[in-house]
Amino acid sequence: MITNSATNLKDLLAKDEQFLSNALYRVFHIVAERGEGVYLYSSDGTKYLDLTCGIGVTQLGHCHPEVVQAAKDQLDKLVHISCVTHHTLNIALAEKLAKFLPGKINNTFFCNSGAEAVDGAIKFSRRLNKGRPNIISFRGAFHGRTIGGTSVSSSKELHRKYYDPLLPGINIVDYPNCYMGKEPEKEAERVLESIEKLFKSNLPAESVSAMIIEPVLGEGGYLPAPLKPVNFLKELRKICNKHGIILICDEVQSGIGRTGKWFAVEHYDIEPDIITMAKGLGNGLPIGAFSAQKEKMSEMPPGSHGSTFGGNPVSCAAAVKTLEIIERDKILDYVSSTGNELMKHLEAELKSKANIRGLGFMIGIELSSKDIADKVIQECFKEKMLILSAGMEQNIIRFIPPLNIEKNLLFSAVDKIIGFIKKT
Ligand SMILES: Cc1ncc(COP(=O)(O)O)c(C=O)c1O
Repeated sequence: MITNSATNLKDLLAKDEQFLSNALYRVFHIVAERGEGVYLYSSDGTKYLDLTCGIGVTQLGHCHPEVVQAAKDQLDKLVHISCVTHHTLNIALAEKLAKFLPGKINNTFFCNSGAEAVDGAIKFSRRLNKGRPNIISFRGAFHGRTIGGTSVSSSKELHRKYYDPLLPGINIVDYPNCYMGKEPEKEAERVLESIEKLFKSNLPAESVSAMIIEPVLGEGGYLPAPLKPVNFLKELRKICNKHGIILICDEVQSGIGRTGKWFAVEHYDIEPDIITMAKGLGNGLPIGAFSAQKEKMSEMPPGSHGSTFGGNPVSCAAAVKTLEIIERDKILDYVSSTGNELMKHLEAELKSKANIRGLGFMIGIELSSKDIADKVIQECFKEKMLILSAGMEQNIIRFIPPLNIEKNLLFSAVDKIIGFIKKT
């Protein structure tokens, strides 16, 4: 448990314990009051450098003034309309997204969260592949907390325990992990072969409607799928094409510029059938989505899926502005080049202590144990820096700063983290 020493902190935490469900885990036992850019301020006024972005959400920092203004303007005009009518911001956001979505993907369904996007994508894949009841997902994946999302997730036993029966027909195969001294080529091939073996042994390919994969495994350890020498996602795409299986890429965490591209699949030069997104889309306002080519989306007739709040005007206004700023300020170029520099710096400094991997500003620093990762996180907290861990063993420091963080600040924070790791 990590706490600060605010005078009213005890009272606030006591009320929190009394009135809020215990089910929601909190990493730091401070009480956030406001945020500004890269900084978060707690109830006692302490200023923290927030390198978590509320788990990869506030891509442009807390309360980005232009995003806030766009949301405020929309609050004055129209807050809610649901599916009673069409609305301008919904249309504007879908049109803008179509410009940035990979390949020919050009049509979007809006919801409120990542898990909802995943659930919608699963339902959609079943419509596209009628009568095929099975799904393949990858070990260590996290796709959200709904029953659908939970069923295809396997990053932690706690997330699934006692929730059976989950969705039937989910088959979990290994995610190719090339970062533990394994050779990328062999690991990618091993997993691809295991899928073909599965088809031949106990899971006929014609019974599989979809595969769902995170191009960069998020909660499961910040592991990009292998790219060289074997482009794992391209090979997976080929398997899906061969067997008529729908490929769903879950970009809830890796999308909206996080890896230096609008979507991480662009690094792999593939077009999934369905792509999900949420987190960074509204820079903090709740919104999720799944997208596909219009021709495919037309397989979902009006009324076959829906949401009362999904794509509400205020969240859409924030999302349109977020996309506009990322484009206008050339943030993808900044994240790409700075992310590369950062990776090289971390590798040079921590070669013997940690395994470094990632894309853009989605970087994992794998340490030898959870204890060490916890110590580093606590040292950072004492220095008023918030960072998170990831991985099934929670031994990975996940580096997920705002995309527009100033370079000197970024490197000075990273150097502090490197220092703490070297001391362990
Ligand atoms: C890849 C991925 N998919 C889905 C989700 C679920 O998103 P939400 O918490 O918005 O439901 C997450 C959340 O961390 C995620 O990382």
